[in-house]
Amino acid sequence: MNLVLLGPPGSGKGTQAKRVAQRRDLQHLATGDMLRAAIESGSALGRSVRAIMDSGALVPDDTIIALIRGWIRRRASGSGFILDGFPRTVAQAQALDHLLTETGAELDVVIELEVDETALIDRLSGRFSCANCGASYHQRTHQPQVEGVCDICGSNDLVCRPDDRPEAVRTRLEVYRRQTAPLLPYYGTRHILQKVNGMAGIDAVTSQIETILNAVMPLPG
Ligand code: AP5
Repeated sequence: MNLVLLGPPGSGKGTQAKRVAQRRDLQHLATGDMLRAAIESGSALGRSVRAIMDSGALVPDDTIIALIRGWIRRRASGSGFILDGFPRTVAQAQALDHLLTETGAELDVVIELEVDETALIDRLSGRFSCANCGASYHQRTHQPQVEGVCDICGSNDLVCRPDDRPEAVRTRLEVYRRQTAPLLPYYGTRHILQKVNGMAGIDAVTSQIETILNAVMPLPG
């Protein structure tokens, strides 16, 4: 099964993609995570995208498509995948279509996570995470059990993303409306778009996604 999770910044794409990938043994591709890893490593790619990402704008299509092209071609044939944060523009969606045709694959479903803008701003402005293992926390709704210490790995390196600053969040939401929302009719007219209420709790959102995926491809047993 091959699927895309679509939704604005903070809608829960990363949270849900990890869960679905684990449950269904899918390869998980998160372009934001790949780009942050490139920045962390100090590579040429990382140096070229850092300021763009910090501002909340999109990295140029050519850069992202080159990254994805390599990943799609290298991925183990036969295993399914879940795309989180890609595609984000119509040009990226068209490039994905070409790559999938080239590799004999196709998209089974695109799931949109719908979340109110007020909730998105609240989620992003309170978010912090563990720089060591990536575990995610929230200042109001999900503090670690011991203040300043990651529940999962014990690290005390807890950090905020530069693009979670209020002005960058405003830019990210505007960029979503302008450049990414046109993907909804793009996939809607192909009848592979399904919507999920992303305002529900994390477990309830996972259940809605599983209901959709089971209709496309039930899990054995
Ligand atoms: P990326 O890393 O993809 O960021 P994003 O899309 O802005 O999304 P986030 O990671 O902030 O949110 P999410 O939807 O994954 O939600 P999450 O699960 O984390 O991209 C960052 C940047 O990289 C872009 O701005 C751009 O510059 C660049 N980039 C990446 N891909 C690109 C592309 N294809 N083209 C061009 N540029 C690209 O959840 C958020 C918070 O909410 C967490 O704290 C979580 O615990 C909480 N939460 C999740 N679900 C719920 C729930 N149901 N109820 C309550 N809280 C919840």
